Amino acid sequence: MNKLVIEGGIPMRGEIAMQGAKNAVLPILAASIMSGEICVIHNCPWLRDVEKTGIVLEKLGCRVRRGADTIQVDASGINDCRIDERLMREMRSSIIFLGAILSVSGRAEVGLPGGCPIGLRPIDLHLKALRQMGVNIIEEHGYLKCECARLKGCAIHLDFASVGATENIMLAAVKAEGETTITNAAREPEIIDLAQFLNRMGAKVHGAGSSFITIEGVDKLHGAEYSVMPDRIVSQTYLIGAMITGGEIMLKNANASHMQAGLSALAEMGGRIKTTPEGVYLKSRGHINSIHIIRTMPYPGFPTDAQSPFMALAAVADGTSVFVENIFENRFRHVDELVRMGADIKVEGRSAVVRGVKKLYGANVEAYELRGGAALVLAAMAAEGKTEITGTEFIDRGYEDIEGNLSRCGIRIRRIRV
Ligand code: UD1
Repeated sequence: MNKLVIEGGIPMRGEIAMQGAKNAVLPILAASIMSGEICVIHNCPWLRDVEKTGIVLEKLGCRVRRGADTIQVDASGINDCRIDERLMREMRSSIIFLGAILSVSGRAEVGLPGGCPIGLRPIDLHLKALRQMGVNIIEEHGYLKCECARLKGCAIHLDFASVGATENIMLAAVKAEGETTITNAAREPEIIDLAQFLNRMGAKVHGAGSSFITIEGVDKLHGAEYSVMPDRIVSQTYLIGAMITGGEIMLKNANASHMQAGLSALAEMGGRIKTTPEGVYLKSRGHINSIHIIRTMPYPGFPTDAQSPFMALAAVADGTSVFVENIFENRFRHVDELVRMGADIKVEGRSAVVRGVKKLYGANVEAYELRGGAALVLAAMAAEGKTEITGTEFIDRGYEDIEGNLSRCGIRIRRIRV
C-alpha cells in the first residue's frame, strides 16, 4: 500500500506535458481486437487501468507490447471470448469489451461488473441495445452469456446519453450487417477519438461528436496506428492545482476546445487563461472567487469527473458555491475528507453547498475513488501543513506519475510505501 505525503502552501509553477486520455485509450484498446492484425497506439498513458486492460487483452489471446508511451496490440491470435469476474470487478469499464468481443467471436462471456464507489452504474442501456442488434443475453452465476449468429444493424435510441453504451454500440456495429444509427448518442470528445480510430481500421462511422451517429457495417477491419487525445480531466486537475496554490502552469498539448465548461468556470473563479497552439496556460490572480453553481451534465456540459477537483477549489474560494451532481448518485465521498481538512461543505441529496474558508489544514485522509482522490491532492497542495493520503491506488487509475509531475512544478509531494 502507498501513501502520498504532501506539504502544502507552495505555489505550483511549471510545465506539464499532457498524458493521453484514460477514457479514450480504454475503448480504443478494446476496439483493437477487431482488427485481427497489429494496432499501434501512441500517447498511451501509463496507468493502472491501462495495465489491467492489457491483462484483459492478453487473456483474450492478443500479444501486447508496451513502449514508453506506445502500446502495440497484435490481435491475430485471439482465442478466447471471456473476461472473468475478478477483472470485471476490478475494472468496471471492461464492459466496453462486450461489443468488440461479440463482433470478433459472435459469443462473449463477461463477469457482471457489479457496484462502484460512485454509484450503481447499471449497464441496462448497453444490454438493451445489444439485444436490439440480435444478441441473445442471459445472466447466470454472476456472468453475462451473450451469443449471436451475426450482429444486425438497427436504429437505437438511448434514453440517456451514456458514454459507455454509445461506445459499446459503435464497437458492435462496425462489422454488423447493414447500418446502425444511434440517437441521443453521447457527444464526449472520447467518442470522436474512438470513431477516428475505428475509421483508421477501415470502419465507416459518421457523426461522432453529435447526438446522431451512423455506422455502416463493413466486412473486415485492419490494423492501424493512432495517437490518443490529451486527457481533459487530468488537464483540468492541474489547472486547478495552479489556481489553488496561487501559481501558474503551462499544459503542453492540452486541448482547450475539449474543456470549455471547466475553463469558463476557472475564468469565473479568477484564473487568467491563455490558449496557444502549444497548449493551455493558466495564471492565478492570487484570489479565488466562489462560483455561483456547477451542475454536472453530459458533454458539452460540466463534466462529472471534474466536480470533485472543482469542489476542492471552491472550498478555499471567497464566498459560497453550489454543486449539483446529476450524473452519479454517490459522487460526494470526498466531502467528508475535505471537511477533515477544514472545509465547510454541506451535502443535501445530489447537491453540496460549499462555503469557502480562509485556510485548509493538513490531515490524514483517504481516497475512495479516482477523481475524489485528485480533489484531496489539490486540497493538500493548498493546505497548511502536512497531508497524508491513503487509497492512492484509486488516484493511480487515472493520473500518470502524479507525484513526478507535481514535484517538477515545485510541489512538495512524495510517495511512501507503508
Ligand atoms: C464514462 C467515463 C467516466 C465518466 C462518465 C460520465 C469511461 C471509462 N468512463 O463512464 O469517467 O464519469 O462516462 O461522463 O469512459 N447509465 C445507466 N444505464 C446504463 C449506462 C449508464 O443508467 O446502461 C447511467 C449511469 O448510472 C450514470 C449515467 O448513465 O448515471 C452516465 O453513465 P455513462 O455515461 O454510461 O458513464 P460511463 O460510460 O460508465
